[in-house]
Amino acid sequence: MSTTNADNLTKTRELIRKGWEEVASAYAEDRSGIFKHCADRLLDRLCPHPGTSLLDIGTGSGAIALQAAERVGSEGRVVGSDIAASMLRIARQNAVKRGKTNLTFLEMDAEHLGFSDASFDIVTCGFSLFQFPNMRQALKEMERVVKRGGQIGLSNWGTGYFSPVADMQRKLFQDFGLRPLLTNPITFKHDELQMLLEWAGLTELQLESDEMEVWFKDPQAVWDYNMSMGPFPVMLRRQLTADQSESLHERFIEKVSAIASPQGVRCTFHLLYALARKT
Ligand SMILES: C[S@@+](CC[C@H](N)C(=O)[O-])C[C@H]1O[C@@H](n2cnc3c(N)ncnc32)[C@H](O)[C@@H]1O
Repeated sequence: MSTTNADNLTKTRELIRKGWEEVASAYAEDRSGIFKHCADRLLDRLCPHPGTSLLDIGTGSGAIALQAAERVGSEGRVVGSDIAASMLRIARQNAVKRGKTNLTFLEMDAEHLGFSDASFDIVTCGFSLFQFPNMRQALKEMERVVKRGGQIGLSNWGTGYFSPVADMQRKLFQDFGLRPLLTNPITFKHDELQMLLEWAGLTELQLESDEMEVWFKDPQAVWDYNMSMGPFPVMLRRQLTADQSESLHERFIEKVSAIASPQGVRCTFHLLYALARKT
């Protein structure tokens, strides 16, 4: 990788980290319920048993790690790692509230994990892989720290994510000349993800699509969902003036109002779970 490219990835990683630092409490509220729901579904697929050691990368406020700590019991061990300190602060508070002593949270970049080889039975990563500027490096790290015979479980956005808002929002962003902050697309196609996992040397791949319907109470709640996603507010701030941002917000509310019903705004989130093994 050239120095310029590596520098750009470092800058992007830092902007993403700052974004998540800012939105930590809003994200942790998980008003849509998506992250708690998907954490359960991913763990149902992985079936960690009492005594399992599990690492959750990009743990955020601990949606997966907290559920995993219940499942692995006091003989098990869960570590949640994340690049954003304020996310980890909330995750630690959640662990204390639930009286979990088999759970620790560590600040760490997913592309450089501070663990020895073969440290965990299971490695999970929920809705974070696409945020890592060098996804291949992060997958290599996951493969390195999982034990032989151990599992890796990822939850991701599939194509058709956040429908019908995503398409509408993409066009609106184009009108405002906004460029995505992330270096990777938010969604994965089945075969793209399969190729990445195979590239990382993982086997016994299982990719499963799923769908979740979410009702937002009104168009403003849809905007608030966006604003609780770390890279989104940073992208607006860096590329638009305050007036332009306000005008984008108004146009967004106008457009989403057109698809709202008295029950609220119905959105569909397409999900892509991936399970793999190190053999
Ligand atoms: C969408 S949240 C997902 C949180 C959690 N896994 C869940 O399912 O609710 C993405 C998380 O990835 C973290 N993140 C972003 N880039 C990272 C990196 N390079 N290394 C580690 N964590 C990172 C963010 O700080 C944020 O907490």
